[in-house]
Amino acid sequence: MPKVKEQWGTRLGVILAVAGSAVGLGNFLRFPGQAAQNGGGAFMIPYFIALILVAIPICWAEWAMGRFGGSKGCNSAPAIFGVLGGKSRYRYIGVLGIMIPIMIYMYYVLIEAWCLGYAWAYLTGSIDLGGDPGQYAQRSTDFFNAFTGATADGGVFESGASSLLLLAAITFTLNFVLIYRGVSKGIEAFCIRAMPIMAICAVVVLVRVLTLGTPNPDLPDQNVVNGLGFMWNPQGADGAPWYTVLLDSKVWLAATGQIFFSMSVGFGIIINYSSYLKRDDDVVLSGLTAASTNEFFEVCLGGMITIPAAFIFLGAAGVVGGTFGLGFNALPVVFEYMPAGRLFGFVWFFMLFLAAITSSLSMLQPAIAFLEEGLDIGRRASVTLLGLITFMGAAFILYFSKGLTALDTVDFWVGTMLIFVLATIEVILFSWVFGVERGYKEAMRGADLKIPKVWKFVIKYISPTYLLVIFVLWCIDPENLRKHWGTLTQNPVAKYSMILIIGVTVFIGLLVHIASRRWDKHGFGESEPPDMEASS
Ligand code: ALA
Repeated sequence: MPKVKEQWGTRLGVILAVAGSAVGLGNFLRFPGQAAQNGGGAFMIPYFIALILVAIPICWAEWAMGRFGGSKGCNSAPAIFGVLGGKSRYRYIGVLGIMIPIMIYMYYVLIEAWCLGYAWAYLTGSIDLGGDPGQYAQRSTDFFNAFTGATADGGVFESGASSLLLLAAITFTLNFVLIYRGVSKGIEAFCIRAMPIMAICAVVVLVRVLTLGTPNPDLPDQNVVNGLGFMWNPQGADGAPWYTVLLDSKVWLAATGQIFFSMSVGFGIIINYSSYLKRDDDVVLSGLTAASTNEFFEVCLGGMITIPAAFIFLGAAGVVGGTFGLGFNALPVVFEYMPAGRLFGFVWFFMLFLAAITSSLSMLQPAIAFLEEGLDIGRRASVTLLGLITFMGAAFILYFSKGLTALDTVDFWVGTMLIFVLATIEVILFSWVFGVERGYKEAMRGADLKIPKVWKFVIKYISPTYLLVIFVLWCIDPENLRKHWGTLTQNPVAKYSMILIIGVTVFIGLLVHIASRRWDKHGFGESEPPDMEASS
């Protein structure tokens, strides 16, 4: 167990660190991509329902669980779940709370490097789509493919596209240097500086987009109002009425997965971060402030920049390609058309880079906390070991870059499915095993804001039912099965990626087993008997 327990420096610092973890590529790239693919404004109905019925209630539960674990001296998910559940076997749930963030880190850090590379390309003018507008889209795609190696497995290693390797090395090192500096001096200090800069950059780009008017008088429909309408008006797929999207379990899973991904709920991050709070520090107002900050960045900034900007210059036909197509193929074309586009391109991608770092840092800390308290190895050794594990994973994703199959496979199975699963298990653990009355009292200790009592009912009955129903509906839909299992069985890279996911899970599972035996021997993270009376 680490000798010196870490703590946050200030309340603003912890709020900005949690908000920094939440605000990331998910807000600016994933959210608009998901909304555009799932009914535009219609997507916002399951999105807001998920926000109110599951995301905010679980977010408060995670803050309360983390602080409770911290008050027992535990900072890692396995130890915290162990004390919450009152038995050592609950520690194994914590495997997910460690493997999820580190597996997401393996591909997230690469997208972070893309953002840095694009920012650099705009700063130096090396991204030049040429003088012929008819060629912009092709040149943008060519730039992306050459830079990321997305056209051939091993492309980035073989084509001598050393710039991405160098940028990946820089972002990787930066993350680990900051993590090595610790919770307060590394994560908190960085987020306090980065968050305001991100907000300013995002507002600058937003103002630019909202003041574009009708840039091409020959195409009067491609204006700001229609751009916003394209993003926000409810639309059905293939001309069907908009409400038909609400009958599709995929849309509900996508909306719930998006809100979890975006708020970093179900990652094991919030419970780790809040374990560094003091016993009576508020969690209710702080949790709500961090969640609201995230929603502001996602809906007000992310939702009003990417898609409206693409629509204004490229029309409905140009708003295609999902998350990466929009962010890295369509937007460079937009910046090419936009007055002072080179400057705005730099501001945008630099902002994305900062947003990504504040999130990727939070994906490393849960594992560092576990290695330190589970294996009793110091910070230097923990950082080195985690560096090696994540380096191998990131190299795998980088090698299998063709069509971004490895990245997409890990993003779907870990970044959507497993966070959904962990959030479901957490809510059951919190309200049924730890006890909802006890959980309410725990959350309210030192609170600056009262959680409405209905939260107890919601978190005990509504949230788990909602999550289980969506999960079952998704699993029994033959189309989902065909698509995702089909890819796994037919595409060798998808298969290798699944083997990687399973391999990392088993490895972390073994480490948790070793840690659990050590803790039992030393009486660390002593289990508390569950409060059956309170939970009944
Ligand atoms: N919450 C982080 C994001 O949205 C992971 O990118």
